[in-house]
Amino acid sequence: MTAAPEGNRIACEDLTDEIIAHYTAKGYTLAFAEDVMRRDLSDLSGLPEPLLPDGVKLAAWAPDTIPSFFAAYAAAFTDRPGFPGWSRERWVEWTAGDPDFRPDLSWVALADDDPIGFITCAEDSREPTPVGFIIQTGARPDWRGRGLATALVTSALRGCRDGGHTAVVLDVSVNNPTARRLYDRLGFTVIRRRGVFQREG
Ligand SMILES: CC(C)(COP(=O)(O)OP(=O)(O)OC[C@H]1O[C@@H](n2cnc3c(N)ncnc32)[C@H](O)[C@@H]1OP(=O)(O)O)[C@@H](O)C(=O)NCCC(=O)NCCS
Repeated sequence: MTAAPEGNRIACEDLTDEIIAHYTAKGYTLAFAEDVMRRDLSDLSGLPEPLLPDGVKLAAWAPDTIPSFFAAYAAAFTDRPGFPGWSRERWVEWTAGDPDFRPDLSWVALADDDPIGFITCAEDSREPTPVGFIIQTGARPDWRGRGLATALVTSALRGCRDGGHTAVVLDVSVNNPTARRLYDRLGFTVIRRRGVFQREG
């Protein structure tokens, strides 16, 4: 599905080589692309136990944990291309202002009260059956490679399954091979690619 052009910008929900060739020939460039990935929850037997690094605890989204969530988000995403540098208020509104946001399935990881990672989840309201959506996850650079995101994502998968969801979906940028490896390893598969074309002038 390709949306009607908005000025010099066209959003496409199902990118194919033909669509890319079509818009490239018209002078557009693919400014952004991400894969939509899905993980069925009917069989979690191959999933690792959500084993947090020693001394790390999880706290759910609540008014008093929001500052820790934002600190973990800012530390994890600051080195990502296109990091928007939003204020805490703007990020919280973007995350929790969505009526489908699930504070009970969103956790910040704390090492002695120091925020070191997080995951935020919602419902995917586009789906006919209850499906969870991982909005964002991240680990502070000095805590990476220790299984933190693995534990956060597996906790979300188990929480969604226990809450009656049939699957979990997420979006991962095509320029994020580290995150892509994480999701591949945890059983997610790509169901489509979406993107945005842009044209000068
Ligand atoms: C992607 C990201 C969340 C991964 O976080 P992480 O906590 O380092 O992830 P993990 O430690 O669970 O896994 C990372 C690697 O460490 C390895 N690892 C090391 N020790 C481990 C342990 N004790 N247990 C599990 N995995 C371990 C994993 O096998 C994995 O290896 P791989 O990359 O070769 O597959 C993190 O790099 C990040 O925050 N990136 C910036 C934000 C971002 O891109 N978020 C995702 C947006 S979709």
